[in-house]
Amino acid sequence: MVHEIALTIKPTMKCNMRCKHCFNGDDLKGDKMLGAGTACQFIEAACREYSDVKVTFHGGEPTLAGNAFYREVFAFQKQMAGRYQVKFSNNFTTNGLLLDDELIDLLIANHTLINISFDGPYHDCLRQHGERVYERIGRVKEKGGSVRVFCTISRESYEHLLEIYQWFNERGIDFKVLPIEPRGYAAVDRKLLMDTDRFIRVLADTYRYWIRDQSCRIRFYTFEEFASLRRDAQFKPFWFHREIALNPDGKIYPFGRPNDVQFCLGEPTDNFRISSCFSSDEYKRMLGILRRLREEYCIGCDSSGACNGVCLCMSYMYVQDDALLRYSCKQSARIFQAILEINDEIMDDFRRGETEKYSAVIKSKFVENDQIFQLFL
Ligand SMILES: C[S@@+](CC[C@H](N)C(=O)[O-])C[C@H]1O[C@@H](n2cnc3c(N)ncnc32)[C@H](O)[C@@H]1O
Repeated sequence: MVHEIALTIKPTMKCNMRCKHCFNGDDLKGDKMLGAGTACQFIEAACREYSDVKVTFHGGEPTLAGNAFYREVFAFQKQMAGRYQVKFSNNFTTNGLLLDDELIDLLIANHTLINISFDGPYHDCLRQHGERVYERIGRVKEKGGSVRVFCTISRESYEHLLEIYQWFNERGIDFKVLPIEPRGYAAVDRKLLMDTDRFIRVLADTYRYWIRDQSCRIRFYTFEEFASLRRDAQFKPFWFHREIALNPDGKIYPFGRPNDVQFCLGEPTDNFRISSCFSSDEYKRMLGILRRLREEYCIGCDSSGACNGVCLCMSYMYVQDDALLRYSCKQSARIFQAILEINDEIMDDFRRGETEKYSAVIKSKFVENDQIFQLFL
């Protein structure tokens, strides 16, 4: 029995930032707005079947739905938590421009992790209003909220990854790096894309620096995930039967990303069951397509032990184009190989008891292995 469900709710596809690389591309021109009542029906459907409900508000730009939308949805969550004994957690992904004090307070009161898209010292390469966004990040922190920055790196910024990490570390801001992918506008404007060889070198060098950096006082989510990578363990669970999305058109789709709109799974009504989406013909059709793609792409891939097709399945939810899928797949495989080699070196050091040079995070991530090695020595 699955107890957890992750819901993505996209109140609108409209956006008030003009990011050069946006994977939503021209979908941002859609002017549909989700009613709070439909969002609540979707949430109640989840509560009828699951005990642990994670909600991510995404878009488009979710703040454009207005604060009243969130007041209603969060009040409803409280009601549902009592009625069904459900535990909620919330994520809110925003460009930060309309994140006013009232909304910040509301999000904090509802224990929301606020993801703010902001590219640090290179913000202006892809988007605008860096000062305002930075000021809002500070405001959330001042109020005691949980904030994680989503920092997209692209052609103009990726070679400065170490500087970007240090910039966030100096300011005490947790962040995650999103390497630009050829999707939406970035698939058209290809001069935004990185050179893969150089990118892998920069990424590996910066990772090598970070694993030894005793001065790290932030969460660098990307590298923490890297430190958990192992050759024989799938790095992320598949999201099948665990994630589902509601779009501004009031309809349900498998994942909440641009290319999943070809698999409409219904719409929430009073007695709607989320599990019926997972057993629907459309969902099975999607699984069939993904199975065939994995048979074609993953066989013979050096990274299949760590990836097992997860990257491919996620990429397909953004793009259908064969060349773009191959690009993402190849880049992910190269990242896995570079990072797994470094993790092998760390494991060797741990086997020999040479652990002092590593940071506390690395010690905590590799300590279990260390103890296992002791058993065999
Ligand atoms: C599409 S936005 C939507 C939510 C909200 N409007 C925001 O700006 O955070 C979510 C994140 O996806 C990232 N993103 C968009 N297109 C991308 C691409 N082609 N490659 C990598 N990341 C991308 C954005 O930079 C942003 O951080």
